[in-house]
Amino acid sequence: MNNKFSKRIREFKPSGTHQLLQMSERPEVISFAGGLPAPELFPVEELKAVCEAVLNEQGPASLQYSTTEGYIPLRQAICERMKTIGIESDYKNVIITSGSQQAIDLTGKLFIDEGDVIICESPTYLAAINAFKVYNPQFVEVDMDEDGMLMEELEKKLQAHPNVKFIYTIPDFQNPTGRTMKLERRQRIVQLANQYDVVILEDNPYGAIRFAGEPLPPLKHFDTEGRVIYLSTFSKIFSRVFVSDGFVPTRHSHPDMYR
Ligand SMILES: Cc1ncc(COP(=O)(O)O)c(C=O)c1O
Repeated sequence: MNNKFSKRIREFKPSGTHQLLQMSERPEVISFAGGLPAPELFPVEELKAVCEAVLNEQGPASLQYSTTEGYIPLRQAICERMKTIGIESDYKNVIITSGSQQAIDLTGKLFIDEGDVIICESPTYLAAINAFKVYNPQFVEVDMDEDGMLMEELEKKLQAHPNVKFIYTIPDFQNPTGRTMKLERRQRIVQLANQYDVVILEDNPYGAIRFAGEPLPPLKHFDTEGRVIYLSTFSKIFSRVFVSDGFVPTRHSHPDMYR
Protein backbone atom coordinates (compact mmCIF):
# COMPACT_ATOMS: atom_id res chain seq x y z
CA MET A 1 0.00 0.00 0.00
CA ASN A 2 2.86 2.39 0.85
CA ASN A 3 4.00 2.54 -2.76
CA LYS A 4 0.58 3.95 -3.74
CA PHE A 5 1.28 7.21 -1.95
CA SER A 6 2.70 10.02 -4.07
CA LYS A 7 6.49 10.33 -4.28
CA ARG A 8 6.09 13.68 -2.55
CA ILE A 9 4.42 12.07 0.47
CA ARG A 10 6.67 9.01 0.55
CA GLU A 11 9.63 11.33 0.87
CA PHE A 12 7.94 13.41 3.54
CA LYS A 13 9.35 13.01 7.06
CA PRO A 14 6.99 13.13 10.06
CA SER A 15 6.70 16.60 11.52
CA GLY A 16 8.84 17.23 14.59
CA THR A 17 6.00 19.40 15.87
CA HIS A 18 3.73 16.42 16.15
CA GLN A 19 6.24 14.61 18.34
CA LEU A 20 6.93 17.72 20.39
CA LEU A 21 3.25 18.30 21.00
CA GLN A 22 2.89 14.69 22.12
CA MET A 23 5.63 15.30 24.67
CA SER A 24 3.94 18.46 25.87
CA GLU A 25 0.99 16.34 27.02
CA ARG A 26 3.19 15.16 29.90
CA PRO A 27 2.41 17.22 33.03
CA GLU A 28 6.07 17.68 34.00
CA VAL A 29 6.94 19.21 30.62
CA ILE A 30 6.76 22.94 29.97
CA SER A 31 6.83 22.99 26.21
CA PHE A 32 7.88 25.99 24.15
CA ALA A 33 7.23 24.09 20.93
CA GLY A 34 3.68 25.19 20.21
CA GLY A 35 1.80 28.19 21.54
CA LEU A 36 -1.05 26.39 23.27
CA PRO A 37 -3.64 28.55 25.07
CA ALA A 38 -4.36 27.74 28.73
CA PRO A 39 -7.27 25.25 28.55
CA GLU A 40 -8.85 26.37 31.83
CA LEU A 41 -9.62 29.64 30.08
CA PHE A 42 -11.56 28.11 27.21
CA PRO A 43 -15.03 29.66 27.37
CA VAL A 44 -16.99 26.41 27.06
CA GLU A 45 -20.28 27.72 28.47
CA GLU A 46 -20.15 30.89 26.41
CA LEU A 47 -19.43 28.89 23.25
CA LYS A 48 -22.41 26.63 23.93
CA ALA A 49 -24.58 29.74 24.14
CA VAL A 50 -23.10 31.15 20.92
CA CYS A 51 -23.68 27.88 19.03
CA GLU A 52 -27.25 27.77 20.25
CA ALA A 53 -27.88 31.38 19.25
CA VAL A 54 -26.41 30.84 15.76
CA LEU A 55 -28.46 27.70 15.19
CA ASN A 56 -31.62 29.41 16.44
CA GLU A 57 -31.10 32.51 14.36
CA GLN A 58 -29.62 31.08 11.15
CA GLY A 59 -30.97 27.50 11.21
CA PRO A 60 -29.82 25.28 8.31
CA ALA A 61 -28.02 28.20 6.64
CA SER A 62 -25.40 28.08 9.38
CA LEU A 63 -24.56 24.48 8.44
CA GLN A 64 -24.51 24.99 4.67
CA TYR A 65 -21.45 25.38 2.46
CA SER A 66 -20.08 28.87 2.16
CA THR A 67 -17.88 30.39 -0.54
CA THR A 68 -14.38 28.88 -0.72
CA GLU A 69 -12.78 32.06 0.60
CA GLY A 70 -15.02 32.01 3.69
CA TYR A 71 -18.13 33.60 5.18
CA ILE A 72 -18.29 37.20 3.95
CA PRO A 73 -19.45 38.84 7.24
CA LEU A 74 -16.52 37.14 9.01
CA ARG A 75 -14.08 38.41 6.37
CA GLN A 76 -15.54 41.92 6.77
CA ALA A 77 -15.20 41.67 10.56
CA ILE A 78 -11.56 40.63 10.11
CA CYS A 79 -10.95 43.73 7.97
CA GLU A 80 -12.34 45.90 10.78
CA ARG A 81 -10.07 44.15 13.25
CA MET A 82 -7.06 44.59 10.95
CA LYS A 83 -7.71 48.34 10.79
CA THR A 84 -6.94 48.53 14.52
CA ILE A 85 -3.39 47.31 13.86
CA GLY A 86 -2.77 49.48 10.81
CA ILE A 87 -3.80 47.21 7.93
CA GLU A 88 -6.32 48.56 5.43
CA SER A 89 -7.84 45.78 3.40
CA ASP A 90 -10.93 44.83 1.47
CA TYR A 91 -12.72 41.64 2.51
CA LYS A 92 -12.04 40.29 -1.01
CA ASN A 93 -8.37 40.08 -0.03
CA VAL A 94 -9.10 38.03 3.09
CA ILE A 95 -9.28 34.25 3.03
CA ILE A 96 -10.42 32.09 5.94
CA THR A 97 -8.24 29.05 6.62
CA SER A 98 -8.08 26.41 9.34
CA GLY A 99 -5.50 28.26 11.40
CA SER A 100 -2.40 29.92 10.01
CA GLN A 101 -0.81 26.52 9.47
CA GLN A 102 -3.14 25.92 6.54
CA ALA A 103 -2.34 29.37 5.19
CA ILE A 104 1.39 28.55 5.38
CA ASP A 105 0.77 25.39 3.41
CA LEU A 106 -1.39 27.17 0.82
CA THR A 107 1.24 29.86 0.36
CA GLY A 108 3.86 27.19 -0.29
CA LYS A 109 1.57 25.56 -2.86
CA LEU A 110 0.91 28.91 -4.50
CA PHE A 111 4.47 30.18 -4.76
CA ILE A 112 7.15 27.50 -4.49
CA ASP A 113 8.63 25.81 -7.54
CA GLU A 114 11.31 23.20 -6.98
CA GLY A 115 14.64 24.89 -6.21
CA ASP A 116 13.17 28.28 -5.34
CA VAL A 117 14.87 29.98 -2.43
CA ILE A 118 12.95 30.78 0.73
CA ILE A 119 14.65 33.10 3.15
CA CYS A 120 13.81 32.62 6.81
CA GLU A 121 15.04 33.58 10.25
CA SER A 122 17.54 31.30 11.91
CA PRO A 123 16.05 29.49 13.76
CA THR A 124 12.46 29.46 12.55
CA TYR A 125 9.15 27.72 13.09
CA LEU A 126 9.57 24.02 12.53
CA ALA A 127 6.10 23.32 11.14
CA ALA A 128 6.53 26.04 8.48
CA ILE A 129 9.76 24.41 7.30
CA ASN A 130 7.94 21.10 7.09
CA ALA A 131 5.04 22.58 5.18
CA PHE A 132 7.35 24.28 2.64
CA LYS A 133 9.64 21.24 2.30
CA VAL A 134 6.94 19.33 0.44
CA TYR A 135 7.52 21.70 -2.49
CA ASN A 136 11.31 21.18 -2.50
CA PRO A 137 12.62 24.69 -2.01
CA GLN A 138 16.10 25.65 -0.89
CA PHE A 139 16.17 27.31 2.54
CA VAL A 140 18.50 30.22 3.18
CA GLU A 141 18.76 31.35 6.80
CA VAL A 142 19.40 34.85 8.10
CA ASP A 143 20.73 35.37 11.62
CA MET A 144 18.87 37.38 14.20
CA ASP A 145 19.74 39.47 17.21
CA GLU A 146 17.45 40.65 20.00
CA ASP A 147 15.71 42.94 17.49
CA GLY A 148 14.91 40.33 14.87
CA MET A 149 16.37 39.46 11.48
CA LEU A 150 19.61 41.25 10.57
CA MET A 151 18.93 43.47 7.59
CA GLU A 152 22.53 43.72 6.30
CA GLU A 153 22.73 39.96 6.19
CA LEU A 154 19.31 39.73 4.56
CA GLU A 155 20.43 42.08 1.79
CA LYS A 156 23.58 40.02 1.19
CA LYS A 157 21.47 36.88 0.86
CA LEU A 158 19.08 38.62 -1.52
CA GLN A 159 22.05 39.67 -3.66
CA ALA A 160 23.57 36.18 -3.57
CA HIS A 161 20.34 34.36 -4.50
CA PRO A 162 18.48 35.83 -7.46
CA ASN A 163 15.80 33.12 -7.26
CA VAL A 164 14.35 34.06 -3.87
CA LYS A 165 10.59 33.53 -3.96
CA PHE A 166 9.70 34.83 -0.53
CA ILE A 167 10.96 35.82 2.88
CA TYR A 168 9.17 33.95 5.65
CA THR A 169 9.25 35.95 8.87
CA ILE A 170 7.56 36.01 12.26
CA PRO A 171 8.15 39.62 13.37
CA ASP A 172 6.20 39.47 16.67
CA PHE A 173 7.39 37.12 19.42
CA GLN A 174 9.13 34.93 16.91
CA ASN A 175 8.82 31.17 17.32
CA PRO A 176 11.09 29.81 18.77
CA THR A 177 13.18 32.78 19.99
CA GLY A 178 10.36 35.03 21.26
CA ARG A 179 12.09 38.05 19.69
CA THR A 180 10.27 40.99 18.15
CA MET A 181 11.55 42.83 15.09
CA LYS A 182 12.20 46.50 15.78
CA LEU A 183 10.43 49.26 13.90
CA GLU A 184 13.25 50.37 11.54
CA ARG A 185 13.79 46.79 10.43
CA ARG A 186 10.09 46.42 9.68
CA GLN A 187 10.32 49.32 7.27
CA ARG A 188 13.65 48.15 5.87
CA ILE A 189 12.54 44.58 5.14
CA VAL A 190 9.62 45.87 3.06
CA GLN A 191 11.97 48.25 1.19
CA LEU A 192 14.29 45.32 0.46
CA ALA A 193 11.42 43.16 -0.73
CA ASN A 194 10.40 45.94 -3.13
CA GLN A 195 13.96 46.47 -4.32
CA TYR A 196 14.68 42.77 -4.92
CA ASP A 197 11.16 41.97 -6.10
CA VAL A 198 10.34 39.25 -3.59
CA VAL A 199 7.23 38.40 -1.59
CA ILE A 200 7.10 38.57 2.20
CA LEU A 201 5.13 36.02 4.16
CA GLU A 202 4.43 37.66 7.51
CA ASP A 203 3.27 35.10 10.06
CA ASN A 204 1.80 36.78 13.11
CA PRO A 205 0.07 34.32 15.42
CA TYR A 206 1.30 35.95 18.64
CA GLY A 207 1.02 39.72 18.07
CA ALA A 208 -2.42 39.81 19.73
CA ILE A 209 -1.13 38.31 22.98
CA ARG A 210 1.30 41.05 23.87
CA PHE A 211 1.27 41.52 27.67
CA ALA A 212 3.53 44.56 27.97
CA GLY A 213 4.86 47.44 25.90
CA GLU A 214 3.51 49.12 22.81
CA PRO A 215 2.54 47.01 19.80
CA LEU A 216 4.51 47.66 16.62
CA PRO A 217 2.89 48.01 13.20
CA PRO A 218 2.92 44.82 11.13
CA LEU A 219 5.09 44.67 7.99
CA LYS A 220 1.85 44.69 6.02
CA HIS A 221 1.28 48.25 7.26
CA PHE A 222 4.33 49.39 5.23
CA ASP A 223 3.38 47.44 2.12
CA THR A 224 2.63 49.76 -0.78
CA GLU A 225 3.05 47.19 -3.57
CA GLY A 226 0.81 44.35 -2.36
CA ARG A 227 3.72 41.99 -1.78
CA VAL A 228 3.25 41.23 1.91
CA ILE A 229 0.97 38.30 2.69
CA TYR A 230 -0.21 38.62 6.26
CA LEU A 231 -1.22 35.52 8.21
CA SER A 232 -2.88 35.50 11.57
CA THR A 233 -5.01 33.20 13.65
CA PHE A 234 -7.69 33.00 16.30
CA SER A 235 -6.18 29.80 17.73
CA LYS A 236 -4.20 31.66 20.38
CA ILE A 237 -6.80 34.23 21.39
CA PHE A 238 -10.13 32.51 21.06
CA SER A 239 -10.58 32.37 24.81
CA ARG A 240 -9.49 35.97 25.23
CA VAL A 241 -12.44 37.26 23.25
CA PHE A 242 -14.73 36.24 26.07
CA VAL A 243 -12.57 37.10 29.07
CA SER A 244 -12.88 40.70 30.11
CA ASP A 245 -9.97 43.06 30.69
CA GLY A 246 -7.10 41.85 28.67
CA PHE A 247 -4.54 39.75 30.44
CA VAL A 248 -4.99 36.14 29.57
CA PRO A 249 -2.06 33.91 30.37
CA THR A 250 -0.98 31.27 27.93
CA ARG A 251 0.67 28.08 28.93
CA HIS A 252 3.99 29.72 28.07
CA SER A 253 3.60 32.75 30.24
CA HIS A 254 2.04 30.96 33.19
CA PRO A 255 3.04 27.32 33.23
CA ASP A 256 1.80 26.96 36.82
CA MET A 257 -1.72 27.82 35.80
CA TYR A 258 -1.70 25.04 33.30
CA ARG A 259 -1.00 22.36 35.89
C1 LIG B 1 4.90 30.85 14.16
C2 LIG B 1 3.65 30.04 14.07
N1 LIG B 1 2.94 30.09 12.93
C3 LIG B 1 1.80 29.39 12.80
C4 LIG B 1 1.33 28.59 13.82
C5 LIG B 1 0.07 27.81 13.58
O1 LIG B 1 -1.02 28.42 14.12
P1 LIG B 1 -2.47 27.82 13.95
O2 LIG B 1 -2.79 27.12 15.22
O3 LIG B 1 -3.36 28.97 13.72
O4 LIG B 1 -2.48 26.90 12.76
C6 LIG B 1 2.03 28.51 15.03
C7 LIG B 1 1.56 27.65 16.12
O5 LIG B 1 2.19 27.34 17.10
C8 LIG B 1 3.23 29.25 15.16
O6 LIG B 1 3.97 29.21 16.27
